[in-house]
Amino acid sequence: MSTSRDRESILEEARRALEAQLAVGDRIPELLEEACRILEHSVPWYDWVGVYLVEGDELVLAAWSGPAATEHVRIPIGQGICGAAAREGQTIIVSDVREDPRYLQCFLSTRSEIVVPIRRGGTVIGEIDIDSDRLAAFDEDDRVLLEWLAERLAERLPQAGKTAV
Ligand code: SME
Repeated sequence: MSTSRDRESILEEARRALEAQLAVGDRIPELLEEACRILEHSVPWYDWVGVYLVEGDELVLAAWSGPAATEHVRIPIGQGICGAAAREGQTIIVSDVREDPRYLQCFLSTRSEIVVPIRRGGTVIGEIDIDSDRLAAFDEDDRVLLEWLAERLAERLPQAGKTAV
């Protein structure tokens, strides 16, 4: 397991890589792809990283990075942990997905999950969804990094639901 010092420096390095990518000025599809790739590659406990965007009453997968595709490319708001976070407009951390009845399974190996809404003006326009194969992988440091990224992405997304790829 990583020590808390390791965790902090890994997350800080990921933040710097994300900042550099945000400064490049990519178009939205490329920016979302790169953000997912950076997170998945630089944080060992992030095993699958996706960004969903709101389209009507659904979350639509816009970008992802991980070992395999998910079958959940469209999730109705209100369903799953993703749908719950979108409806509540709040970050949800699930330490053990097997204990959460809301959980929609993507990968057999997943043990914990964090979902961070991307909000603009009080409206949820998307979210960052990360699965980990480790039990209780996510803590406040992950939340702070991912909420920071969600704010940066919200500044760049032109309109809710118009930019899914
Ligand atoms: N587990 C999510 C579904 C999306 S996959 O993790 C990629 C959920 O419960 O909403």
